[in-house]
Amino acid sequence: MAVALAFAGTATAANPPGSADLEAGRTIFETVCAACHGPNGTLPADSPLRATMNPPPADLADPLFNSREPAPDWEMVVRHGGHSMGLSEQMPAQGGALSEADVRNVVAYVKTLADTSDYPPGELNFFLPIRTKKAFPEDEVVWKSRYTDRPGRDEFRNVLEVEKRVGKRGQWLMEVIHADNGVESEITEVEVGYKHVLAWNARKASILSGAVVVAFPTDGSSEALAPYLAWGRQWSDRWITQASARTTVPFDHPDEGQLELTAVAHYKWTPWPRRVFGAMELTATTPFQDDGGDRVKFSAVPQVRIGLTRGGHVALNLGVEVPLSDQPYDYRFHLNLLWDFADGSFFKGW
Ligand code: HEC
Repeated sequence: MAVALAFAGTATAANPPGSADLEAGRTIFETVCAACHGPNGTLPADSPLRATMNPPPADLADPLFNSREPAPDWEMVVRHGGHSMGLSEQMPAQGGALSEADVRNVVAYVKTLADTSDYPPGELNFFLPIRTKKAFPEDEVVWKSRYTDRPGRDEFRNVLEVEKRVGKRGQWLMEVIHADNGVESEITEVEVGYKHVLAWNARKASILSGAVVVAFPTDGSSEALAPYLAWGRQWSDRWITQASARTTVPFDHPDEGQLELTAVAHYKWTPWPRRVFGAMELTATTPFQDDGGDRVKFSAVPQVRIGLTRGGHVALNLGVEVPLSDQPYDYRFHLNLLWDFADGSFFKGW
């Protein structure tokens, strides 16, 4: 038993969807869960049960909802109850009644209640890094503050980013960027873009996306095209790496653009979302034209993610960007506050 649990603890990513006993899962669902969730995962609109539950259970047969919630999170909900993950107490904990294998089987069965084959699985929705672009499409609001300690005037920059899923694998994004250097405090840029998941592999737990972003500076300088590719992969239960490649190309002076490569490794030591998780990120930036400094500029961004709500749908990222080569700053301090609004209101589940 202890061996089985220890193994279960290290094998989520390596636990391909096909390995569960779906028939056993169906039996559990029909006997334990269907009373509240409906026999097919949808509680009928006219069910008198609806009025007794606040909120009523979400539709497990809805492919967008079903695909976006990672199976390990649902296993936590089933094992420890809704309350433990910031949901309603009316979703009862089953960890006492069901074995580890039962929990995995019933969640695997719930995952078959919707045809999610065209939707990227929520298991590939990895932590948001500070500099690396994320591949998974989100419904999210992110507030990013950055304080740059540099020769001359320090700079404070705030970015409000709104991301909204569209279709099965797309996402719109908008960023409003505000900068304050002690003399001027103004909105300096607005960015608008679209991200699309190009490919994923559920068995390997990897995902690749491409995005096209257009930046509109407010000072009359050239608009810029800023496309990127973003990739992520979970290697084991604990280790996740993400990487992105982004170019910024001003329309008026394409030769003045730059290329930025970033990569991050996250260590996820527990399935509980309201914990502190460490990560290390590296960036390399190179201008298309030689600007007299180092041809490639490197930085390191040690960082932590702090889950704030019980389900982790509101979280904080804190990081320090340290130059590893000749950079125009001494340090940059990053604070990102993110709210995944698909998982409920900002104030839910604290
Ligand atoms: C007594 C009624 C009840 C029973 C029995 C029940 N659930 Fe739930 N379940 C709920 C309610 C209510 C919610 C909605 C919680 C919320 O959104 O705050 C919920 C939510 C969920 C969710 C969604 C979590 C999310 O991300 O929003 C899953 C998955 C789930 N239940 C699975 C199961 C499984 C599997 C079983 C059987 C082992 C089960 N439930 C048994 C009432 C129940």
